[in-house]
Amino acid sequence: MKKILWSLTLFGVILILPVNGVMEFDKMERFTDFNGTNVSQTEKDVNSKAKVTMVGLTLIKNAGLRGAVCLDGSPAGYHFHPGSGSGAKNWLVHVEGGEWCGDIRSCVHSKKTRHGSSKYMEKQIPFTGILSDKASENPDFYNWNRVKVRYCDGGSFMGDNENKDAQLQFRGKRIWTALIVDLLWSGMEYAKQALLSGCSAGGLAAIFRCDEFKNRLLHSTRVKCLSDAGFFVDFADVSGDRSLRNLYTDVIEFQSITTQLPNECLKVYNPTLCFFAQYLIVPIKAPLFILNAAYDSWQIQESLTPKSADPSGSWSDCRSNIAKCNASQIKFFQGFRTRMVKLLGDFTEQRKNGVFLNSCFSHCQTERQETWLSKNSPAIKNKRIAVAVGDWFFERGGAKHIDCAYPCDKTCRNEVVER
Ligand SMILES: *[C@@H]1O[C@H](CO)[C@@H](O)[C@H](O)[C@H]1NC(C)=O
Ligand SMILES: *[C@@H]1O[C@H](CO)[C@@H](O)[C@H](O)[C@H]1NC(C)=O
Ligand SMILES: *[C@@H]1O[C@H](CO)[C@@H](O)[C@H](O)[C@H]1NC(C)=O
Repeated sequence: MKKILWSLTLFGVILILPVNGVMEFDKMERFTDFNGTNVSQTEKDVNSKAKVTMVGLTLIKNAGLRGAVCLDGSPAGYHFHPGSGSGAKNWLVHVEGGEWCGDIRSCVHSKKTRHGSSKYMEKQIPFTGILSDKASENPDFYNWNRVKVRYCDGGSFMGDNENKDAQLQFRGKRIWTALIVDLLWSGMEYAKQALLSGCSAGGLAAIFRCDEFKNRLLHSTRVKCLSDAGFFVDFADVSGDRSLRNLYTDVIEFQSITTQLPNECLKVYNPTLCFFAQYLIVPIKAPLFILNAAYDSWQIQESLTPKSADPSGSWSDCRSNIAKCNASQIKFFQGFRTRMVKLLGDFTEQRKNGVFLNSCFSHCQTERQETWLSKNSPAIKNKRIAVAVGDWFFERGGAKHIDCAYPCDKTCRNEVVER
């Protein structure tokens, strides 16, 4: 157990606690996942006997020539663990989360971290949750070929630009192209089944790249996509401002993303709105699963109650611990949840799609064992996340799960509360 904790913590892969007060919305790039050191409480029921499999980093070959580089120009990379047995021809491509950057200052900051440079990436990472190679932890995907794509472009794999003066590369698009070519070459070309998934900013990437991913595979391949905590909602913050819109506008402009956005969306909405999942998901042809906490802790902290919108700090207790919110604050969050449910309406009606919207205060639930599948992992009507995703992928029935409103769900981990 100690060892598991140690490795997860050291590598910063378990993302629970916000970096307290360090990254403010208006000053810095937005972290769409968090690191933390206080994971012991939430790690209790991870199967302590099972040894976590560590998987090495593969850097993309000839990355410079192919333009498949991180913000700082270093090669982009991924971690690959081969499939076996009945999973040998199945592929899971899972995209890490990270932050978006839309100005020199925040991008220069990112390029000195693992989310902007492979120089700072862990050489090995633990494969847990949806990436686990153990049937007891990951019953449907454990023996698939599993890939974790590292996030280092600051733009959900959409940018195609550079800023020579600041020595910044925005090559999300080229990273994606090179990655897919290399994976096809490594055997994904003959995949029988494939799932493109991702968490947070990577969950948004899974939405952007879903149909394209499907089109790169054989017609006979069963291809689906899963977005975990990628449903960032266009919603006014507590001061009435649209802070996330402002950030997206900057990112799109700075990284030259407009031409990469889907045409169907651009015909109807402006480029900024076309960076929001809610305007993208309905036209997607491949089956898509939206997994999100209705009280997504990142969105609450960085989009609904950013420090810029709350100069007096009257939300500061509530934003980091939902149990400390007063009735009117909860009411605001209920309005947010209601909006989310409504925005998912037409999408949910499409038979091919799946939804798991649980009334928890968390962010990213596929990567960590204790939210994906463990004795006390979150569930809606007794269905845990790994089971819901597997049932949807393999069409075993019941793919739409929308929780009752807070505080009815007693299975939540609400990790951020434990700060
Ligand atoms: C968490 O992130 C902060 C800011 O990037 C960094 O200074 C700190 O070392 C990180 N902690 C861990 C445990 O990775
Ligand atoms: C970690 O959690 C324990 C138990 O709740 C608490 O006593 C401790 O102060 C926490 N440590 C940090 C660094 O937050
Ligand atoms: C609840 O919090 C809000 C926002 O911080 C504040 O304006 C309001 O006065 C509080 N309400 C009560 C009843 O304390």
